[in-house]
Formats: sequence, structure tokens, C-alpha cells
Amino acid sequence: MVHAIRIHENGGPEVLKWEEVDVADPAAGEIRVRHTAVGLNYIDTYLREGARPLPLPSVLGLEGAGVVEALGDGVSHLAVGDRIGYADMPVGAYSEERVMPAHIAVKLPDAVDDQSAAAAMLKGMTAQFLIRQCFRVEPGMTVLLHAAAGGVGLIASQWLNHMGATVIGTVGSPEKGELAKAHGVHHIVNYNTENFVERVQEITDGAGVPVVYDGVGKDTFMGSMKCLSPLGMLVCFGNASGAPDPVNLGDLSTHGSIFVTRPMLFHYTATRDALEACANDLFDVIGSGAVKIEVNQTYPLSEAAQAHRDLEARKTTGSTVLLP
Ligand SMILES: NC(=O)c1ccc[n+]([C@@H]2O[C@H](COP(=O)([O-])OP(=O)(O)OC[C@H]3O[C@@H](n4cnc5c(N)ncnc54)[C@H](OP(=O)(O)O)[C@@H]3O)[C@@H](O)[C@H]2O)c1
Repeated sequence: MVHAIRIHENGGPEVLKWEEVDVADPAAGEIRVRHTAVGLNYIDTYLREGARPLPLPSVLGLEGAGVVEALGDGVSHLAVGDRIGYADMPVGAYSEERVMPAHIAVKLPDAVDDQSAAAAMLKGMTAQFLIRQCFRVEPGMTVLLHAAAGGVGLIASQWLNHMGATVIGTVGSPEKGELAKAHGVHHIVNYNTENFVERVQEITDGAGVPVVYDGVGKDTFMGSMKCLSPLGMLVCFGNASGAPDPVNLGDLSTHGSIFVTRPMLFHYTATRDALEACANDLFDVIGSGAVKIEVNQTYPLSEAAQAHRDLEARKTTGSTVLLP
């Protein structure tokens, strides 16, 4: 038996229970992993609440790093003792040990320690697909990134800056603004005290931006549309403030024949080749020092409920890691 954070019902952070669970031997195509660090992600709160249904009871968590303890038949790309990281379904990362599909795990290079991997596999690969696949940012572009001091935000800010983009980043407090600025954001907008649509128009001399990365959702979605230049793309990749209202297709033409997409990382890493390309791109920018992964909060895994409370209360910045 090992310990894990499990839910038996959907609800607030109080449904997260620290319990003993069985871990089976790995079946064909699976590995058994001993976690050394587990990533906290906003999607964990959606899954906890039931916005995306899980079979119950369920261990939460989609991102982790650890050591391979056992291999099922047919697993050839990994060996017992390998240090690995992953970010994908199925859930189960909030555990001391778990069995999981081998094909979602990648070996970690020496340049990426376990806590950094747990902090960056999901948030960093998300930044990768957002800025290099979903909409390809080019040097010289000005882009708008919401919640720039968050987990995805601090990684995307550094990466966009490194690519030669001018980054307009929204934040919820002056302290978060300072942090985002230190991570490559050129123009800070506090969307709690300033009208971000007006600020983007000012900064771009009325031209708007070719892309908005919006992980905030309901509170920013309509404003984000108004920040786009003609033919621009609104990448709505998360719902931290709640799900946006349904889109009126007429608004897409009114705002300049714009595009709206609601992408998921897992579709961009669905094949082994796509996963390795995305992970290697991330490991390269971490290894070169262009993107620094900082773990701004750690909690014992057993205190995952407190970590969820703090994330939802907007008290965290950057990445948070749960320690088994
Ligand atoms: N589509 C995908 O594949 C994918 C993958 C990974 C993450 N995501 C999404 O990316 C977003 C960021 O994820 P993350 O894990 O890095 O979280 P995070 O950015 O560290 O935390 C969310 C941030 O959103 C901002 N926010 C604005 N309104 C909020 C509200 N009403 N309640 C709570 N927070 C609010 C807060 O920053 P301020 O205080 O500065 O406003 C908060 O810190 C989430 O929406 C997540 O679902 C999507």
C-alpha cells in the first residue's frame, strides 16, 4: 500500500483525502513509478469539482516526476531506475507510487531536476504548444498573455521574450506585475485596476495584437476579442475565472474575421513523436537557461487541499510542486 490523494465525490478542496491505496504490478505497456515530485495544475481543480467527470473514487493529478520501479511487458524505451517526467491523462499523479502508461513518460535530461520537471512538464509543454504550434509567434510580434505571473504564465513570458516577441502581460496585483516583469513581460497591465482592452490599444497604437493567450476565461474572454488585430487568433486555453459564455459567430466577423480556438495540450502531444518533440523543445530552453523553472510554492502531497485553496484564491505565483 502507498499513500495518495483521492476523491470519492466532487466538490471543494475538502474532498481531497489522504488515503492508503493499492498499487498493482504494471501490465503490458505500463510502468510503475515512485514519485519524487508532483505538479499542481489549475485543471486539477476542474477535475476535483467535476467539470470534467472522472470515475469515482479517483486519485487526482496529471503531472509528475520520479523513478521507474518496474516495467510491464513490451516497454522498451525505459529501464528500471530511469528518471522520468510526464503530463497527461490518466489521472493518478497525486500518489507516492502509481502504475501508468509508459508511452506518456519521457526520460529527464540531467539539466532538468525532478522538482523542475514536476513544475514544468504540463505548464511548460502547454507554453510550447501555445506559442510554437497553436499560433506560431514570430520575432517582433506583440502578444497579449493573461495571468502572466501564473504557472503557465511565467514560463510563457520568458519563452516569448526569448523568441523576440513583445509581451503584454495581465496580472492581478502589483507584486505579480513585478514578478512578471522580471520574467520577460514588457508591458504589465493590472486587469483588476486597469481596462486591459484600452491599455492594449494604447500600447499597440490602436493596431491590436495578432494573438491573445487567455487562460482566465469568463472574465476576460469578450475583452480579449477586442484586443485582436484583423485575422487575429484568440487562444482560449483555460477557465480560471469560469467558462466563457457561448460565442456568437457574428462577433468573429465584427472583430475583424478573427479566429477562436479552445485547445488542449493532450491533443498536441497525442503521438509519441509529438510528445517527444514538444518535451525536447521545452528541455532545450530550460537547458540553455532561456527559460528558468522556479518552484515558488511547495506543499507536502498530503496537504494538497491547502495547495488547491491557495491556487484558487490567486495566492500562488509560477509553479507549485507537491512533495510525496
Ligand atoms: N488547455 C490546456 O491544455 C491547458 C494546459 C495547462 C493549463 N491550462 C490552463 O491554463 C491556465 C493557467 O493554469 P496554471 O495551472 O498555470 O494556473 P495559474 O495561472 O498559476 O493560476 C491561475 C491564475 O489565473 C488568474 N485568475 C484570474 N481570474 C481568476 C479567478 N477568478 N480565480 C482564480 N484565478 C484567476 C490568477 O492570476 P492573477 O491573480 O494574476 O489574475 C491565477 O493565479 C488555467 O486556466 C489552466 O486551466 C490549460
